[in-house]
Amino acid sequence: MKRRELERWERRLHLGAHPVLYPLIRGLGYRRPVQRIPGLGILVSDAGLLRQVLMDNERFVKHGRSASGGLWTPVVGPKALLNMDGAEHLEMRRRLGGVFTARSVAVMVEPAAARLRDRLERELPAGRGVDLVREVKELSGGVIAGILGLPADAPGRLPDRDLFDLGTSITSLVRLGRHELTPPQAAKARSAVERLAGPARAAYRDGAPDTFPGRLRELGMSEQEALGVVSAFVIVGTETLVSFIPRIVALLADAGRLSALAADRNGLPAAVNEGLRFTVPSPMMLRDAVASGTLGGVRYREGDRLLLSTIHAAKSLGGFDPERTVPPHARQLWFGAGPHFCIGMPLAMAQINSTLESLLDIYARQPWRIVSRRVKHRVLIPGYETLELANE
Ligand code: HEM
Repeated sequence: MKRRELERWERRLHLGAHPVLYPLIRGLGYRRPVQRIPGLGILVSDAGLLRQVLMDNERFVKHGRSASGGLWTPVVGPKALLNMDGAEHLEMRRRLGGVFTARSVAVMVEPAAARLRDRLERELPAGRGVDLVREVKELSGGVIAGILGLPADAPGRLPDRDLFDLGTSITSLVRLGRHELTPPQAAKARSAVERLAGPARAAYRDGAPDTFPGRLRELGMSEQEALGVVSAFVIVGTETLVSFIPRIVALLADAGRLSALAADRNGLPAAVNEGLRFTVPSPMMLRDAVASGTLGGVRYREGDRLLLSTIHAAKSLGGFDPERTVPPHARQLWFGAGPHFCIGMPLAMAQINSTLESLLDIYARQPWRIVSRRVKHRVLIPGYETLELANE
């Protein structure tokens, strides 16, 4: 295999996104498991210590000024899961416990996944190229419509791609070194949230239990809580997948695994899991310390910001290898751990699997290949700007 080629693209993706911080933080993180970086915070790069922090919501919180709270509370209000902690957060998670049944995930993902499949089926076999990044943006916009409870035939409905652009106009404002948005950025993000909130509010008021906002109402959430949760889903669920899906497709192609998987899908779950470990679509998590103590031999004080480097913790296990067994303390760390563990994982997996299944079905009939690709520059989450597929 072209392992060197695969590693080269991986490095390009990271350097494209963070030309200065990536080499700096990567280099530092391999030196010591915990260390203070002046101006940025305390970098934690060991999987076991990361998990320890994530599980301890008493000492390390998300609602604080320099973790998610500072970024998101001015935009989506204080009750959006990702900026909550303690009993209130647990209670909201408990209420949301049963929200992702196989049926509700299907209602949110399947219409958009079917539209994506139709486009791939129409374009690739006809010998036309397809930009997978553009396609996944459409998919993601379609799923946003599902989260907002917006039917495909709603009068005046924004197209999927516009919904994606609105979602991403919020997340693209975030940078690694930034603790909070500037007032004009926060105002821009609030106006995008407000546009997205319109249909979600209507679906909540309508109360139809087969829509996500209607279901949140059924679970006893106030309108403000429901809109906070809907906003959190739109904020967290777009960039990660638009980064990951093209990257896993490129990894499988670069690793020469497409034909084996097209013929036999049994290896697909392990390949996806390993792709998530290797690419780490959510490369860093943030926490504020609300007590003093010691972590991995380093003193931390109340008010310190912790940079939990999932990317170090996951990547230190080695190169892309779907046959790998991940040690228990690192398992699924790329979806977090503890009370804030990714609640959208079922939605994410449904989008990842449906796209890969569609591409592999087409591949089994007529192989395609990557004809060109470009990496994104200066973004929070590394990813491809374009990934062009066409028939072999
Ligand atoms: C491959 C895709 C994804 C990855 C790798 C991922 C990763 C993560 C991680 C690491 C966290 C924990 C953050 C922390 O503890 O600070 C998280 C939380 C969260 N994720 Fe995901 N995520 C993905 C997709 C999604 C999708 C598609 C959605 C929804 C549409 C979503 C919704 C959420 C929400 C709402 C939270 C906050 C949960 C809470 O704070 O209680 N995620 N995700």
